[in-house]
Amino acid sequence: MQTPAGTVLVCDDPAQACRLAADRIASAIASTRADRGRAVLGLATGSTPIPVYADLVARHRAGQLSFANVTTYNLDEYYPIAPLDPNSYHAFMYKHLFQHVDLPPHRAHILDGTVPEAFAAEHCAAFDRWIEADGGIDLQLLGIGRNGHIGFNEPSDLPLDQALRLPTRLTRLDPVTIADAARDFGGSEAAVPRRALTLGTATILAARSILILAFGANKAEAVARAVFGPRTAQLPASLLQTVPEKVTWLIDRAAAARL
Ligand code: F6R
Repeated sequence: MQTPAGTVLVCDDPAQACRLAADRIASAIASTRADRGRAVLGLATGSTPIPVYADLVARHRAGQLSFANVTTYNLDEYYPIAPLDPNSYHAFMYKHLFQHVDLPPHRAHILDGTVPEAFAAEHCAAFDRWIEADGGIDLQLLGIGRNGHIGFNEPSDLPLDQALRLPTRLTRLDPVTIADAARDFGGSEAAVPRRALTLGTATILAARSILILAFGANKAEAVARAVFGPRTAQLPASLLQTVPEKVTWLIDRAAAARL
């Protein structure tokens, strides 16, 4: 279905959507490698893309997919957090993808949750410059928060033009995000870091293509508002309406319930 926020494909279940996502990622790697000699992927964490990574690992093990000419940039990382902390997104990516494939470790970039706060802005600006120097992101994988966040670009009162121009930066997590993250921190909201480093909306929207996944009834309202609601900083995923020609939503029936 064509919508103001891009093409929406409603799948029978998350497994089918994740297979399609892995297909898209594998063909983006193949086609950009053919054009430019390499591919740049923007990667997401969270529970949603785990089966996508499992599928990509299976393709690699079957000899069908190589990451040798791939560079990756992750969307976000908690702040502060050490990379060896099991709840860090460094640990997540190593567990679900990096340790299983032939992606050169020095080309797997994740924002550094140990950077001293006084240098966080500089680190984030450098991250945006690295992406630019690498020719930009070919395919950006996204999930969506229950509050409509993408990356950790949280709902805000910013005017639209500013909301669209946000760079990669240190940001404060929304209470809904902290509540949802608690399951990964032993069920304790108090244990969830209050801040995070995140790719900005400007960087995300500049990707050449964007694949956004959403599964389950608890995402249905955010999906409906993002796709058909007003384009507003109050629901960051609605900002995808700025670049609908680049965006594909892969969602299950439960997440499509309010469309
Ligand atoms: C993760 C990220 C977040 C998640 C979102 C959904 O890198 O940037 O925006 O995509 O919070 O999380 P799950 O998939 O756990 O529902």
